[in-house]
Amino acid sequence: GGDPRAKLKRQAAIEAASMVQDGMVVGLGSGSTSAYMIEELGRRWAEGLRFCAIPTSEHSAEQARAHGIKLVTFATHPQIDIDIDGADEVELGTLNLIKGLGGALFREKIVAAASRRFVVVVDESKLVDHLGHHVPVPVEVTTFGWESTARQIEALGARITQRLDRSGNVFVTDGGNMILDCHFGAIADSVALARRLRAIVGVIETGLFIGRTSEVIVAAHDGLKHLEP
Ligand code: A5P
Repeated sequence: GGDPRAKLKRQAAIEAASMVQDGMVVGLGSGSTSAYMIEELGRRWAEGLRFCAIPTSEHSAEQARAHGIKLVTFATHPQIDIDIDGADEVELGTLNLIKGLGGALFREKIVAAASRRFVVVVDESKLVDHLGHHVPVPVEVTTFGWESTARQIEALGARITQRLDRSGNVFVTDGGNMILDCHFGAIADSVALARRLRAIVGVIETGLFIGRTSEVIVAAHDGLKHLEP
């Protein structure tokens, strides 16, 4: 393809997919980088690799199913060996993340939390010194009372936009909730902000992924890099 970022995303995704071995329980992330990872796992599945997977979105589930990849649930597989997912921003040093611009943050966080290893795949444009520079923090909230929840988030210093879908209707998550995109600008203390957001009634989850990253695979123009916290 002609898109240089797409090429880098694909490189990082293929590197991460090579970490999957026979018999593993694998978390399948969501978004365009994860799509390359699932495609590569599909290719390896066709070659005879056998594992089972828990998807983080309906979209990733469909893609995996199309390749014949075996999907399971937490009912039979409560412990995941490796979860591979993209991110919207990666904070250098801490490797804390902003995720959820695709809208699947709640399931993504549950799968990451249940996994022994959480491997993040990005191109170099996602690396930042402070989270919040380029992207808002997506916050999943209940539809009931969301106006009140939004005010309390604004009081923490955010400008809020309600996530809409392509047709301009209110975006509904896989869990049936809403997403508020909370623009904080560069976040000085992402740990404290995550705690304050979680304390607000009506907030179900936030796109701040704190202390969860095992490894980041970064595809840069001068090659692949592996970052560890
Ligand atoms: C999905 O909800 C997100 O968390 C994605 O992981 C994130 O948006 C990265 O997407 P891309 O791989 O498409 O950049």
